[in-house]
Amino acid sequence: MSGNLTTVAYLGAAILFILSLGGLSNPETSRRGNFYGIIGMTIAVLATVFGPYVTAAGLPWIVGAMVIGASVGLYAARTVKMTQMPELVALMHSLVGLAAVLVGYASYIDPAASANFSGAEKVIHEIEIYVGILIGAVTFSGSVIAFGKLSARIGGSPLMLPARHWMNLAGLLIVIYCGYLFAVSPSLEAGMVPLIIMTVIALLFGIHMVMAIGGADMPVVVSMLNSYSGWAAAATGFMLSNDLLIVTGALVGSSGAILSYIMCRAMNRNFISVIAGGFGSDGGKVVTAGGAAQPAGEVVSVTALETAELLREAKNVIIVPGYGMAVAQAQHTVYEITKLLREKGINVRFGIHPVAGRMPGHMNVLLAEAKVPYDIVMEMDELNDDFPTTDVTMVIGANDIVNPGAQDDPASPIAGMPVLEVWKGKTSIVMKRSMASGYAGVDNPLFYKENNRMLFGDAKKMLDEVLVALMAPA
Ligand code: TAP
Repeated sequence: MSGNLTTVAYLGAAILFILSLGGLSNPETSRRGNFYGIIGMTIAVLATVFGPYVTAAGLPWIVGAMVIGASVGLYAARTVKMTQMPELVALMHSLVGLAAVLVGYASYIDPAASANFSGAEKVIHEIEIYVGILIGAVTFSGSVIAFGKLSARIGGSPLMLPARHWMNLAGLLIVIYCGYLFAVSPSLEAGMVPLIIMTVIALLFGIHMVMAIGGADMPVVVSMLNSYSGWAAAATGFMLSNDLLIVTGALVGSSGAILSYIMCRAMNRNFISVIAGGFGSDGGKVVTAGGAAQPAGEVVSVTALETAELLREAKNVIIVPGYGMAVAQAQHTVYEITKLLREKGINVRFGIHPVAGRMPGHMNVLLAEAKVPYDIVMEMDELNDDFPTTDVTMVIGANDIVNPGAQDDPASPIAGMPVLEVWKGKTSIVMKRSMASGYAGVDNPLFYKENNRMLFGDAKKMLDEVLVALMAPA
């Protein structure tokens, strides 16, 4: 394939990636968006493999690597549970970072690659390598730690090292100085020393950055690492002089940055303070749930039968799903109940919090899978004012996102996070297995409110019982 044809193919693939991102922004067009992405990626891979940079001797290696990579990817995609998706995504981000590091070292060592550059061009190429390895190493180690935290292999509480900001600053200064030494190094061997020092510091920085972030801030970290992986890919594109990789990396990098901003807004957090770390901590001292006011009052539990009765008598119902619905895989029963209630003329809507579950859009994906119509799935801001006129709110395996303490208790670790105001409705029913706290580890005063009822048990099992009771003649 000639260089010109490859450029045209890359242009087509870049347009398809942009269309793909556009499609993915809405559930109704997301299937089409995925399809564009698949075609774009197929074109990109074929144009690269058959392009001018791949020699016949390299082909068997590429095919072998693709077969191994595709088999691992296929196996992971088929076996991963929906609730493990965020950790899988974090692991994949780490691979993008690792690839950037390896490509960086390879381009530096490869005599053929460096022979193409001289003078100012050589310096620019070396800066590309340096920055690419830096971003790649931070992305790699940060994503591995995020994987550990999301899969509960590493504890969720923030690691607050003494003088951590000073340590980060010192690391940054050393990285800048090593960058200078690297750029002026007379030989490959001399350049290798500052490069390796910088890589070690970047790896430690990635570990430290994510270790310092509290569990409740993990949504932002997931999307931030997504953004970093994009920039790492773009840096790889610069090192390899591959325009498509630069464009694709920039698309992922900027969309991840926008998503991080949206996540921060949804949690009323400042991006810089998230990165600085220590959410759920105050001046280096970790605030536990005990720092917040202890909720008082009586907990009233109900049965599935009583829940069905309350639903039957309601005119307006709002369903608030959370992480527990994903764990219990209760979305299909939720759909059956919704269908039945709607057939009875009851107005049923869903209230989705931007950080419900464990990844952006987690609840939307589950509800779409269960075929819940999109037009009754609302965002938090669209229906928060409607709770006072709601008869029954069913909170299914959600906790932090319906915690009134976020509004009323300045000492709460989630103070200031916007929440779904379910307690303002006539009756709220919370379905969960126990009185245990949610992801942020905070007690929930909602459970003790006078108009709240608890339906204890696995969400799927309880909802099955509610469905049977609803189907029985009144
Ligand atoms: P959580 O606050 O984590 O609460 C989920 C609740 O589900 C738990 O209290 C648990 O109580 C219950 N549960 C678990 N398994 C269940 C089952 N089989 N049946 C019924 N209930 C079950 O979830 P949320 O309200 O969705 O809030 C999300 C939290 O995760 C936020 O703090 C958010 O910041 C964080 N987070 C979000 C993301 C993204 S991007 N969305 C990423 C990482 C972290 P029991 O144990 O008593 O059943």
